[in-house]
Amino acid sequence: MNALPKHVAVIMDGNGRWAQQRGLPRSSGHQAGVKATRTVVEQCARRGINMLTVYAFSSENWGRPRKEVSFLMELFLRSLRSEVDSLHKNNIVVRFIGQIESFPENLQAQIQVATEKTRANTGMVLNIAVNYGGRSEMINAIKNISEDVRAGKLSVDQIDDDLVTRYTWLTDGLEPDLFIRTGGDQRLSNFLLWHLAYTELVFTSTLWPDFSASELDEAIDNFANRQRRFGQTGEQVDNSAQS
Ligand code: IPE
Ligand code: IPE
Ligand code: MG
Repeated sequence: MNALPKHVAVIMDGNGRWAQQRGLPRSSGHQAGVKATRTVVEQCARRGINMLTVYAFSSENWGRPRKEVSFLMELFLRSLRSEVDSLHKNNIVVRFIGQIESFPENLQAQIQVATEKTRANTGMVLNIAVNYGGRSEMINAIKNISEDVRAGKLSVDQIDDDLVTRYTWLTDGLEPDLFIRTGGDQRLSNFLLWHLAYTELVFTSTLWPDFSASELDEAIDNFANRQRRFGQTGEQVDNSAQS
């Protein structure tokens, strides 16, 4: 019923449990998760998805044991360094959403390198959400809108869906069509609260390191068979599809 999703958003969850099930430290799960991320990025690009947004680190993840947090920072740095060339070769535009300024300097610098290097590419956009929180994003948007109103750059009447979107961190208005969360939990964990309003949600108990290209294809097939009604009746949607 639906075409291919243009924008896919993914909560890559279950790395820790994947490792624990194997008697390994949680860090091995994160390490294994990088491989799954590479697979999914490549498969989305191959399938012709326009945009992929992945949740790599939430603003709440700082609350984890210090050792795990610093391992994750190191892993981001290493993975970015090792992946940037192949992302670039695949014509992928890499962007970051979230409060990057709290990251270690060397990681911020690498983020800059990846962003700059791939900026002019014309293929799939990969948004990596790091130190991202949906509520922080909205608070930030509300503050900036308020300041622009106070400065006379904006009138209150101009505030609508499109304008609010432009003040978020995903500014181009391409809302996720399909959301996937691995790891078995059925919650949003503060991810893209504004942009997921009408997104189709798919939850799978597969742990992130085990998530494969074929499971991504399954989720895309599942999406294709759903009717998106956006508040209308099924008949209205059928009729407008026919005309
Ligand atoms: C997701 O896996 C990765 C990050 C949050 C960085 P988890 O580390 O949350 O794995 P589980 O949920 O504990 O299994
Ligand atoms: C969400 O997973 C964040 C990422 C996958 C980066 P969490 O594992 O942090 O979510 P909760 O704590 O189970 O809600
Ligand atoms: Mg988790």
